[in-house]
Formats: sequence, structure tokens, C-alpha cells
Amino acid sequence: MHVILIFALLVLFYIVWKYWSLAIGAGYDPTPMDRVHKMLELAQVNEKDVLYDLGSGDGRIVMTAARKYGAQAVGIEADPFRYIFSWFMVVFSGYKKRVQLQFGSFFKKNLDKATVITVFLYGPTNNKLKEKFQRELKPGTRIVSYIWEFSGWELEDALPGDRIYLYVI
Ligand SMILES: C[S@@+](CC[C@H](N)C(=O)[O-])C[C@H]1O[C@@H](n2cnc3c(N)ncnc32)[C@H](O)[C@@H]1O
Repeated sequence: MHVILIFALLVLFYIVWKYWSLAIGAGYDPTPMDRVHKMLELAQVNEKDVLYDLGSGDGRIVMTAARKYGAQAVGIEADPFRYIFSWFMVVFSGYKKRVQLQFGSFFKKNLDKATVITVFLYGPTNNKLKEKFQRELKPGTRIVSYIWEFSGWELEDALPGDRIYLYVI
């Protein structure tokens, strides 16, 4: 009886964990590393940049932006498990000076320090972010999206074969 109860609780926990992040913006699905490099190259990320990854998952984009491109990077993640996992990755890989992780919803965080934004979310979530971006981001801020476009916005550049899209505010 106890075993069934524990199993049912574990299944319930898994379902809540998996679908909660989906409900608030996008489920977890890491960007393949070759696409991470292409996104950062398309946006010409460099050591003068402050890059924000909205929904930073395991931290791969923020750590790559800091390590390979010299940027300051901020990851925002609402899933506590991914946040804790990425925090350990950042601390034990020695990126603490260049990478900051914030726990919570990116809808509630101020983005005005960003010079580059990266997103791998969903089309409807991108659309919900448009007004926030226009309100908070400085002119010239680059936004790179993987898979999903920002409907109605003019593209600055793209790698259509890789489904990577660049916009400039
Ligand atoms: C498709 S994954 C992308 C992860 C990472 N950016 C990458 O490219 O590998 C989307 C991530 O966004 C997170 N997320 C979804 N909605 C969010 C929200 N409102 N605030 C913060 N993080 C969110 C999810 O938990 C998930 O880790």
C-alpha cells in the first residue's frame, strides 16, 4: 500500500514539474550546443555585452556566452531544480564572476541592463514578451530566438536552416 502511495506521489510530482514550466512559458528542452554557438555568433556577442537568457535551463547559453565570448551573462529560470542544477554548474565551473543566475519568472524581472536577449520558448510566450521588451530594452538590444519567431516583427538576420532568428530593438 505504501509503495503504491509513494509511486503515485512520484508520478504526480513528475507531472507537476514537467507541465508547470510549460504552463508558465515553455517546457524544458535544451538548445543543442552547435545552435547555441550559432545563436551567439549571429548576435555577435562580445565582451562588452550583457546577455540575458530567459528560461536559462541548465545554464548552457549563459556559460557559453561568458566562456567563449567574454560577455557578462544573466540566466533567469523559474524551475527550482534547473535553477539549482545550473547554480552548481556555474559555481563549480568557475563562472561566478561573469554569470549571474536569478530564480523566478522572467516576466517579473527587469531586463533593462541587457544588450542581448536569448530565448528558446514558445511562439505565444514570445508574443507575450514583446510589450515588455519594447518597454524595458534599450534601442540596439539584440534578441535571438531559437525555433520560434516574433510574429509581426521585422527580422534583422536569420539562419533559416537552423531556425535561429535575430531581431534588434
Ligand atoms: C526550452 S527550455 C530552454 C532552456 C535554455 N534556454 C536552453 O536554450 O538550453 C525553456 C526554459 O524556460 C523555463 N521557463 C519557462 N517559463 C519561464 C518563466 N516564465 N520564467 C523563467 N523561466 C521559464 C523552463 O523552465 C525551461 O527551463
